[in-house]
Amino acid sequence: MWYGRDMRIGILGSGLMGSKLGTIFARAGHGVVFSYSRDRKKLETLAKDAGKNASAGTPVDAARNADVVLLAVHWTRVEDVLAQAGTLSGKVLLTCTLPMRKDDSELVIGHDTSGAEALATKVRGAHVVSAFSTVPSEVLFPVFERSRKGRLPDLVYCGDDAEAKKKAAGLIRDVGFHPVDLGALSMARYMEPFSLLVAQLAYEGSGGPELAYRFEQFGK
Ligand SMILES: NC(=O)c1ccc[n+]([C@@H]2O[C@H](COP(=O)([O-])OP(=O)(O)OC[C@H]3O[C@@H](n4cnc5c(N)ncnc54)[C@H](OP(=O)(O)O)[C@@H]3O)[C@@H](O)[C@H]2O)c1
Repeated sequence: MWYGRDMRIGILGSGLMGSKLGTIFARAGHGVVFSYSRDRKKLETLAKDAGKNASAGTPVDAARNADVVLLAVHWTRVEDVLAQAGTLSGKVLLTCTLPMRKDDSELVIGHDTSGAEALATKVRGAHVVSAFSTVPSEVLFPVFERSRKGRLPDLVYCGDDAEAKKKAAGLIRDVGFHPVDLGALSMARYMEPFSLLVAQLAYEGSGGPELAYRFEQFGK
């Protein structure tokens, strides 16, 4: 069931990233369907907490009639969730998924391509935009809450389809970031290792996620 006044957004993967981004999108007025958790009750609670624009469903419910589908699963779950979602042809596929080994120790894709590009070849006909992999999930609510006060922090994104990128940029703004267009989807080859640097700063450095969030304002 779709509620909400603006875009319809299907969430594939309702963990740290999917649950927070989905909640923010719903609070910003979009219709959101949360899906793909091993715990159906968790999806229902998430939808209830996100407000009247949100509901819980299966991956196929989330993808059906969605304008934008957010992919927020571990790389090892991508094939499974895509198979459950059904066709995504013609949709915007916004991905924050990083192509990581099962133990998250390193990227599984070399420097001459990227997870986002591999995804685009898997999901033919979908318009893939890579965004949000460069932020730790912990900063999403604070950025959203602060978004009406002062200057927005930058957030990079990339993709090949102009209309899809326009939608993605609107969603980035809704979260409370200033969208910075890096260009073609192939720029994800540089964005994905950058995301690892941010994660390293956030979780191994001394400043925590707050440091990584400030990192994107570097140079201003
Ligand atoms: N966390 C971050 O700060 C962050 C930042 C940037 C990029 N990323 C990337 O974003 C993607 C999602 O990260 P995340 O931290 O949101 O992951 P997560 O918290 O582990 O969430 C993954 C989702 O997939 C679901 N799932 C369904 N079946 C599963 C199965 N059999 N095994 C494992 N999970 C299953 C999980 O279900 P359950 O609800 O049952 O657990 C959960 O809803 C990853 O590619 C990650 O590299 C994460």
